[in-house]
Amino acid sequence: MIGLFDSGHGGLTVFRALVRRFPHIRFVYLGDHANAPYGNRTSQEIVDFTRAGVERLYSHGCRLVILACNTATAIACRTLQQDWLPSSGHEGCNVLGVVAPMVEAATQTPWAMTAPQYPQKYNTDTIAIFGTRRTISSNVYAEEISKRCPKVKVVQQPCPELAGAIEAGRPESDLDAMVGDYVNELLDRTGGVPHQAILGCTHYPLVEHLFVQRLPASTRLLSQPEVVADSFEDYLARHPGYGLKLETDRIPALLTTGDPGEIASSLKLFWPEAQPFEPVE
Ligand code: DGL
Repeated sequence: MIGLFDSGHGGLTVFRALVRRFPHIRFVYLGDHANAPYGNRTSQEIVDFTRAGVERLYSHGCRLVILACNTATAIACRTLQQDWLPSSGHEGCNVLGVVAPMVEAATQTPWAMTAPQYPQKYNTDTIAIFGTRRTISSNVYAEEISKRCPKVKVVQQPCPELAGAIEAGRPESDLDAMVGDYVNELLDRTGGVPHQAILGCTHYPLVEHLFVQRLPASTRLLSQPEVVADSFEDYLARHPGYGLKLETDRIPALLTTGDPGEIASSLKLFWPEAQPFEPVE
């Protein structure tokens, strides 16, 4: 069983892509609605909440957890992988994030390869990154891209209000105005047309069409749910032990640290046909 963890609803965009792509695998999703949003929280809070979420999923029988949240990945993934997991007593378990697949796709460079070995270092693309305040201030996308392609220009745009507005179900016209402002701010600083854009927040696929309308037509937008599904397929081929017999075809479980009644209406925005969230013990 594979666990997905997010601060709230956003990771459902990734969850749905994985469920569609791997119907024979059992996935469980945990949203930390009690502590969401993470985008403006401190690093220590994000590490602590993410570790607690991952432990809960391990205790539910998952051996692999994907942090389906850019903010949790940017701030906590490496700390959990390197500092916590090896001495945590969770032998044979692992945790993955959603930043690495995007960096690999944008730079067309495997994660393990850095610039000295790789001809893409001559890549001079401009790559735009949109994300929460914490994802952008972590600089993780810029650092990881430039390790592989030092000549790529990375232009980053924090969108501090956007994830909350999407989750609150704000009208399309409000979301469009916000996306327009964020895109214009980025384009003003870019000094040219970005070749690629990463929507580095799992909420943003819900407004991807607005980004498409606002960005120049030639900008290639990378779809995080699909890119993560591609990357997961590759990971499973290399680590077949994680999973993976056909266990059941019942609807995947959605768990929350919050109050399922309070979040029922926003769940419909992300996944109209979903079964309600259940409280995690
Ligand atoms: N899902 C989170 C992400 O991908 C954003 C929401 C939050 O701020 O908690 O960055």
